Amino acid sequence: MVEIEALDCGYGGAQVLFAMALRVMPGEVVTLMGRNGMGKTTTLRALFGLLKPKAGTIRVKGRDMTGAAPHLVAAAGLGYVPEGRQIFPRLTVEENLVATARPRPEGWTLSRAYGLFPRLRERRGNLGTELSGGEQQMLAIARALMTNPDLLVLDEATEGLAPVIRAEIWSAIAALRADGLAILVVDKNLEALLRIAERHAVIEGGRLAWSGTTAELRADRTLALRFLEV
Ligand SMILES: Nc1ncnc2c1ncn2[C@@H]1O[C@H](COP(=O)(O)OP(=O)(O)OP(=O)(O)O)[C@@H](O)[C@H]1O
Ligand SMILES: [Mg+2]
Repeated sequence: MVEIEALDCGYGGAQVLFAMALRVMPGEVVTLMGRNGMGKTTTLRALFGLLKPKAGTIRVKGRDMTGAAPHLVAAAGLGYVPEGRQIFPRLTVEENLVATARPRPEGWTLSRAYGLFPRLRERRGNLGTELSGGEQQMLAIARALMTNPDLLVLDEATEGLAPVIRAEIWSAIAALRADGLAILVVDKNLEALLRIAERHAVIEGGRLAWSGTTAELRADRTLALRFLEV
């Protein structure tokens, strides 16, 4: 689905990613973990064409998309739920959902999105500014789903939310996984990540420091201590 290889990337003169690598297969749930400022969001921005790589390759479904514009990456089948949600504040919930929708036969519809997040149906006429943090996050996820992605990419989708709302987001992600959607998740909640995904990548100082399965990560607690905030 996605193959990132030997990716160098940064901001102006400041290099952040050094030969970063990451791979997600169709239907697979993969996490990208690492401490603050290690380059998780930067990796995702590069994947979505929001930052120009200095070196390396990004392939989507086998096609070279290195440096491709964001709309082309989206059209290739990637859906982005960015850090900080970034919903359209002056549009209603429903307008947010249709603004970037890319309908597909048998694909996502408003009623399916409202089925996943019933709160959004109740709030369909409210402006983005009128939503709680949790509702904004649900909207950001539903908006990405309305583009009918083959890979959904979530950056800190549970950050700063109340436990009950977090649980709701995790169960929605689990439902999407059960549907066979490929998902790449960045989050700080190690236990939730171990439950949701079969494969994990750890980034440290802009480099891929470790990758492996849930069983391998569970078996070696020193890994979590070395690379994560636990
Ligand atoms: N717009 C920017 N301009 C310059 N440097 C940036 C910019 N955004 C991020 N950085 C730097 O790049 C590095 C990686 O940041 P990034 O946001 O990718 O980390 P992260 O792993 O997502 O962290 P967090 O867990 O806090 O979200 C950090 O040192 C950060 O200060
Ligand atoms: Mg980040």
